[in-house]
Amino acid sequence: MKIGVLTGGGDCPGLNAVIRAIVRRGTSDWNHEFVGYRDGWKGPLENFTRPLGMEQVRGILPRGGTILGSSRTNPIDIDGGMEAIAENMENDGVDGLIAIGGEDTLGVARKLFDAGVNVVGVPKTIDNDLGATDYTFGFDTAVNIAMEAIDRLHTTAESHQRVLIVEVMGRHAGWIAFHSGMAGGANVILIPEQDFDLDQVCGYIERRFEEQYAPIVVVAEGAKPIGGFPEEEDSQTDAFGHVRLGGVAHWLEGRIREKTGKDARATVLGHVQRGGTPTAFDRVLATRFGLYAIEAASEGNWGKMTALHSTGIDLVDLADAVATLKTVPPELYSEAEVFFG
Ligand code: F6P
Repeated sequence: MKIGVLTGGGDCPGLNAVIRAIVRRGTSDWNHEFVGYRDGWKGPLENFTRPLGMEQVRGILPRGGTILGSSRTNPIDIDGGMEAIAENMENDGVDGLIAIGGEDTLGVARKLFDAGVNVVGVPKTIDNDLGATDYTFGFDTAVNIAMEAIDRLHTTAESHQRVLIVEVMGRHAGWIAFHSGMAGGANVILIPEQDFDLDQVCGYIERRFEEQYAPIVVVAEGAKPIGGFPEEEDSQTDAFGHVRLGGVAHWLEGRIREKTGKDARATVLGHVQRGGTPTAFDRVLATRFGLYAIEAASEGNWGKMTALHSTGIDLVDLADAVATLKTVPPELYSEAEVFFG
């Protein structure tokens, strides 16, 4: 078979490990031929390809990013986009496609499958917010990067007796904030699932200072105060209609200073969380997803997505893959609240 591989959406550590596993197993067990589609859906849409074989995947296991490139190109919004993908694949003799991506990429994969294209999906997002899988690779790496940053911020916060606010990624779900905040001993963790009360946050901060410690506030980029932000927000959107976030930490910086009279500084971790080498957990999970994805494609098990359930890898329907957003449940959040203040 000839199989196309693409990576779509925001990149994340572990993508290369998936690509490597697909090509290694696909070549040795089934003698498949591969084509690398460049830059997400832009690749099959514009027939933008690069060679993909054993030679190209050598040495890429620990490398962050994706050798295929990625983009947020959305073929659904492009007139004739879905048809062009099917046509380009057929003209090139590509029998099926493995799409590695998050909610948006897999949503397109699902629509393509419904339209008769052979597709298998592999879930990817540092946000860990896909309901169909227990974990996505990239998340553990992001959490460890954020945790290390929090550890470092503790010491400088204490030297200067100031509040340090760390903004981490997490648009709709606060998994990175929750895990890194809990692992890093944050004094308050703010997540998108639960609007925060600014007075309560300031109360925690003051309590912390009373004990001669300096507070660390971990905030997910999608978190907001009860009642929302009074100011206008930046409303730039991407091809999937997502508003570009970022800024809650700076907003908090000003409000905390005003309300507590303490010095407060914001650190926005941003794309640092998505860069660099994956952790061992993410390398193993990504590799296993790759092995199962190529097995599914080889057996003609199209329209599926690999998923981690407990310690095993299952295949779930692509239709279910993007059906539910996995958010931090209140009972789990309350475990972190024990340490607030
Ligand atoms: O979905 C992954 C993610 O890293 C989100 O956490 C974040 O909001 C978004 O991507 C940032 O996207 P971009 O790199 O396009 O700014």
